[in-house]
Amino acid sequence: MRRAIFFGAMAALWVAAAAWQMVFAADKTCDLTYDNFGRAFMQKYCVACHDSAKAAADRNGAPDKVNFDTAAGVKKAKSDIVKWVIRESQMPPEPPRPTDDEKTKLKAWLTCEY
Ligand code: HEC
Repeated sequence: MRRAIFFGAMAALWVAAAAWQMVFAADKTCDLTYDNFGRAFMQKYCVACHDSAKAAADRNGAPDKVNFDTAAGVKKAKSDIVKWVIRESQMPPEPPRPTDDEKTKLKAWLTCEY
């Protein structure tokens, strides 16, 4: 009888640990990442102006230090991107503009990965 209780307790512990691990792992895995979403989004909508390889005249007025051709550049400007693109819809300043669905994904990606 004691032994049954012991094994029961061990099984319960094991299930709890497995569940905890699943929750924990889910926290760290992003469905949307720079590789499967961000790079293409930035290339399509932002890098025409915000490109570290471009000099003054080709940037159409985009600030020199605000570049989205690398993940590091995006990460650094994360909160500004959320503000300008999602909250205020000021970027990009001209078409093509991201759809609402793409903006929702942009937010989900930035929030999860960075
Ligand atoms: C057609 C050129 C162009 C495109 C495309 C463009 N931007 Fe911009 N961006 C600008 C210009 C010009 C400014 C400066 C605007 C100002 O200061 O009023 C700017 C400023 C910004 C700023 C504010 C930087 C700061 O600190 O002052 C952010 C953030 C930004 N853009 C993000 C983006 C994102 C994200 C995209 C793509 C979704 C994008 N932009 C697409 C031209 C562009």
